[in-house]
Amino acid sequence: MKNILPFLLAASLLALFVSCGEPATPVDLKIVPNPVSVEYGGWGVKIPADATMPRLYAPIDKKLAPEEYILDTRRGKVKIRGGSDAAIFWGQQTLLQIIAQVKKQDGKRIPGVLIHDKPAFSYRGAHLDCCRHFFTVDEVKEFIDMIALHKINVFHWHLTEDQGWRAEIKAYPRLTEVGSVRAETLVGHYGSKEYDGTPYGGFYTQDEMRDVVAYAAAHHVTVIPEIEMPGHASAALASYPELGCRGADYPYKVQTTWGVFPEVFCAGNPETVTFLEKVLEEICDIFPSEYIHIGGDEAPREEWEKCPKCQALMKEKGFTREAELQSYLITTVEKYLADKGRKIIGWDEILDGGVSQSATVMSWRGAKGGIAAAKMGNDVIMTPNSHFYFDYYQTKDPADSGEPLAIGGYLPLRKCYSFDPFDQLNENEKAHIKGIQANIWTEYIATFDHVQQMALPRLAALAEVAWCPDNRTEYDDFVDRIVTGLLPIYDARGYNYAPYAFKDIE
Ligand code: ACM
Ligand code: ZN
Repeated sequence: MKNILPFLLAASLLALFVSCGEPATPVDLKIVPNPVSVEYGGWGVKIPADATMPRLYAPIDKKLAPEEYILDTRRGKVKIRGGSDAAIFWGQQTLLQIIAQVKKQDGKRIPGVLIHDKPAFSYRGAHLDCCRHFFTVDEVKEFIDMIALHKINVFHWHLTEDQGWRAEIKAYPRLTEVGSVRAETLVGHYGSKEYDGTPYGGFYTQDEMRDVVAYAAAHHVTVIPEIEMPGHASAALASYPELGCRGADYPYKVQTTWGVFPEVFCAGNPETVTFLEKVLEEICDIFPSEYIHIGGDEAPREEWEKCPKCQALMKEKGFTREAELQSYLITTVEKYLADKGRKIIGWDEILDGGVSQSATVMSWRGAKGGIAAAKMGNDVIMTPNSHFYFDYYQTKDPADSGEPLAIGGYLPLRKCYSFDPFDQLNENEKAHIKGIQANIWTEYIATFDHVQQMALPRLAALAEVAWCPDNRTEYDDFVDRIVTGLLPIYDARGYNYAPYAFKDIE
């Protein structure tokens, strides 16, 4: 008794000091995505009164995987060890969440904690369609901020469409002179007969695209550009009509409404391949990404059935189905890009007519295309419209909940959170699932504020499935982690997240 008394005294004095000297801090941190492990203990770290962040000690640890990090606040300092700069950056995003919730609870001390995390998928993507509606370079950068906060590491930049070509290509100036502007835009939902009578346009110069690439790289985000072929080509054909099956005299136009259009690139015209290769040459010069997205979706083949050039090529090659023309065009472009050390990603229609083993398939019409591709041995990115189309409604009754007009569908946060990327796959096939992605098509999203409320908080569900598909918690806990860990950051940054996202009325 005599011996332990001084220790008891010291312990109670310390407890008194800690409890009086520091406001309470949460000891149950809420973090999205849910880390591999969180262990509490140690002193924690005081947040200096005159700083938003305590000093960070950040060593690279080559024993860790490239994106794996360990965040340690147990000994009075914030230390992040990571397998690379990117890993340390992801650790910092976790730190942001910790500080935001500590401050919200009026605390000045980060609790002592050891957090270990690493992502399940190397490809964690978010797509933004900047064609149906145009977003400025600053808005695109803010989108990159948003995805980086969620530890998403790929920005899939949709740059060409029927309704507008957005990337400056020096060899083909008419793409932006003509193809970047549509005469007017549909008002209301598809099916409406009303147009606004106002020209709408915009494009990114090559310098601007390079600036975005550099900004993304500084946030450990890779930009993958998408150049659509052979469909969604109206804006390109309005600029260079000779590349379409209807020929140089046909008055192609930049489309003013939404949907899928019969006007596609003429697969039988060798000039089409020249055009696509020259465009891709400039694109590769701007975008250093290993992958280039070549589109491939929603390309009707009726024009090819009637076109003498397309039919002649089919005969020459011994093709019996027009789908093989699509396959021919995609594999030709794939070879061209392979010579430049690049790989292609295409929407799941590239499976039609046959696809090379080296193409990565982006499964959007549900997961079935991705499952089929993985079983064939192709790499896959799952971006199913059943779970990750963030242009779909978030509530069951949009009129009641005040959701703005959307394309349709119903994808509440809970549904996004429930996606199983490995459904129906054995161990070998699972290895072909390289990642997941959310898509934001913008037919009905005209402002960046609206982009934010379609993306947030659903990006949190994407992040969770991308980092820890096998370590997800109950849905209520996930929501709790968003509310405590992420919403204070959304608020501080002025992000316009969906106010009705948690009103789960399923
Ligand atoms: C797509 O949604 N058309 C890929
Ligand atoms: Zn043709």
